[in-house]
Amino acid sequence: MRYLLISALIISLTACSSSEQVTTTPASTAEYAVAMPDKFAARVALDVMQDGGNAVDAAIAAQFVLAVTYPEAGNIGGGGFMTIYMDSSADFLDYREMAPADASRDMYLDDNGDVHPTDSLFGAKASGIPGTVAGMWAAHQKYGKLPWQRLVQPAITYASEGFEVPEKLAGRVSRYIKRIEKRGLKTNFANYFGEAATAGVLFKQPELAATLSRIRDNGPAGFYEGETADHIVSYMQANGGLISHEDLTRYHAQWRTPINFDWRGYQVVTAPPPSSGGIAVAQWLGMVDNVTRTNILPAHNSAPYLHLVSEAGKRVFADRAEYLGDPDFFAVPQPQLIAPDYIAKRAREINLTAISATPQIKPGLHESEDTTHFSIVDQWGNAVANTTTINLSFGAGVVAAGAGFLLNDEMDDFSAKPGVPNFFGAIGGEANAIEPYKRMLSSMTPTIVLEDGQVKLVTGSPGGTTIISSVTLSILNTLLYDLSAEEAVNLPRFHHQLWPEDQIRVHEGFDPATLNTLQDMGYNIKESNFGDLHLIMQQNGKLSAASEARGRGKAVVQSVK
Ligand code: GLY
Repeated sequence: MRYLLISALIISLTACSSSEQVTTTPASTAEYAVAMPDKFAARVALDVMQDGGNAVDAAIAAQFVLAVTYPEAGNIGGGGFMTIYMDSSADFLDYREMAPADASRDMYLDDNGDVHPTDSLFGAKASGIPGTVAGMWAAHQKYGKLPWQRLVQPAITYASEGFEVPEKLAGRVSRYIKRIEKRGLKTNFANYFGEAATAGVLFKQPELAATLSRIRDNGPAGFYEGETADHIVSYMQANGGLISHEDLTRYHAQWRTPINFDWRGYQVVTAPPPSSGGIAVAQWLGMVDNVTRTNILPAHNSAPYLHLVSEAGKRVFADRAEYLGDPDFFAVPQPQLIAPDYIAKRAREINLTAISATPQIKPGLHESEDTTHFSIVDQWGNAVANTTTINLSFGAGVVAAGAGFLLNDEMDDFSAKPGVPNFFGAIGGEANAIEPYKRMLSSMTPTIVLEDGQVKLVTGSPGGTTIISSVTLSILNTLLYDLSAEEAVNLPRFHHQLWPEDQIRVHEGFDPATLNTLQDMGYNIKESNFGDLHLIMQQNGKLSAASEARGRGKAVVQSVK
C-alpha cells in the first residue's frame, strides 16, 4: 500500500521525460533524490528514505536489490566503492575484491608466456574474493540508521516472489547466452538465467533468496561462513577456481581517506587507490582547467574541445599504467600525482593544435564492459555515490551453484603480463601485478562535488576505463559548461586512453563536421557505446536528477512530507 502511495506521489511530483529519466523539483523545503540503474532499486531506495533511512541505508538496500534485478552488474558476488558525505564529513569505503591466497603473478600465462584468452574473464578461476556483503555490513555498522534486516528484506522479496523482466535485461541475457555458446564455454549461466531471456516473465531466484535470507539473519557470516561459503568453495573446487574457506574469512572491507581536491572553487571528493579514478579525474579536470584559464574555452563538444580533453587523457592514462595499484601492496605516489604544480606542468605539454606522438607520452613523475553506479541524496543533505561491479556483464558467467549468485571476473583487472592490455585495453606493470590478497586496480570513480560544504553533484558510471571519462565529462558538462543534469548525462561523450594510438571513441550523435576535423588532424574515430551516468545536481537549493537514457535507469526527486 505504501508503495502505491509513494508511486502516486512520485508521478504527481515529477515531470518525467519519455524515457522516465529526469525530474524537475517541486517547491518544497526538503527533498531527497535517487538516480539508479533500474526502477526496482529506485523504488526501494525511495521507500527506505521515506521510512526515515539515510542515504547509506538507501544505498545498502539498493545494492542488495540490484543483486537480484540487475544481474549483469548488480551483485553480492563482486565488489565496489562507496563515496559518502555524511554529517558534513567525507568518507570512502573500499569493498573491492581481493586475489585469493593461491593466486600468483603468472597464473593467466600459458607455456609460451602468452596471456590465456579467457581464463581471467570466464569461469571460476576469473573470480576474486567477493567484497560486497562485507562492504554493506561495514557501511551499516558505521552509518546505518534503519535495522539491517529491514534493508536486506526487499531484495529477498524480489528474489523469492520474482520481478517482471524488463526488455533491456532480456536482450542482454539472450545475447550473453548466445555469446557463451558460440565460444564453447562451460558455464551454468543459462540454467540460472535462461528464463530471464524473455521480457515480461516473472523471474524468481529461490537459491539467491535463500542466500540473501542467510545474509539478512547472520550478517557477513551468512555469506563468508556456513552454507553460503560451502557452496562457493565447493563450486571453486569442482571448476578450477581458487577461493578457499580461509580466503572468505580473511576478506575485509577497508575504510580509506577519499581523494579530496579543489577545482574552480568546488571541493571534489572521489575514489582513492585501489581505484585509479580519483587521481585520474583530479589530473584530467586540473589539466583542462589550466589550459582553459589561459586560452579561450572551446565550444562544448567541438573538435578543439575533444582534442584538448583527449590530449589531457593521454597523460592521465600514461600515469595510470605506471603508478597505480593497491596502496596496501605498492607505494602509489598519490601526493605527487595530484600536486597542482605537476598537473600544471603536464598541461603545458599539451599541444592545442596537433596530436602529440603517443609513444612520447610517458608517465610524468620522473624528471574498466559493465559495472553499475547509483547516486543518492537524502533529506539531510547527506550523499552516497556507489559504484559496484562483477567486471564484465554477468561477471565470470558462472553461478556459485547452490547459492544462486553470479561470480565476478575481476581478476582480469590485474595486469596479467606487463604491457599486455586487459579487456578494457588498459596496460599495467609492477604496480598492478597479481599477488595474494591484493586488490586489483579499478577505474570505478564514485564522486561527490561540494560547494561551500553542501552537496553540489553526485556522479558515477560503469564502463571500465571509460568510467573516468564519463565522470570527468559529467563534471565539465555541469560545472564548466552549465548544462542541466539531463543534458549532462545524455549529450554524446568521448574517450581517449592513450592506446590504441590516436583513437577517440565517440558516442553516436556528434556533429559530422567535428568528427571530420578530428580525422583531418590525424585522429582515428571509433563509434562506441559506453557508460551509464547517474547524476544528482543541486542548484539554488533544488535537486535535479538524471539517469542516462541508453540504460534502464530511473531518477527521481521527491519532497519530504
Ligand atoms: N571492473 C572495472 C573496474 O573496476 O574498473
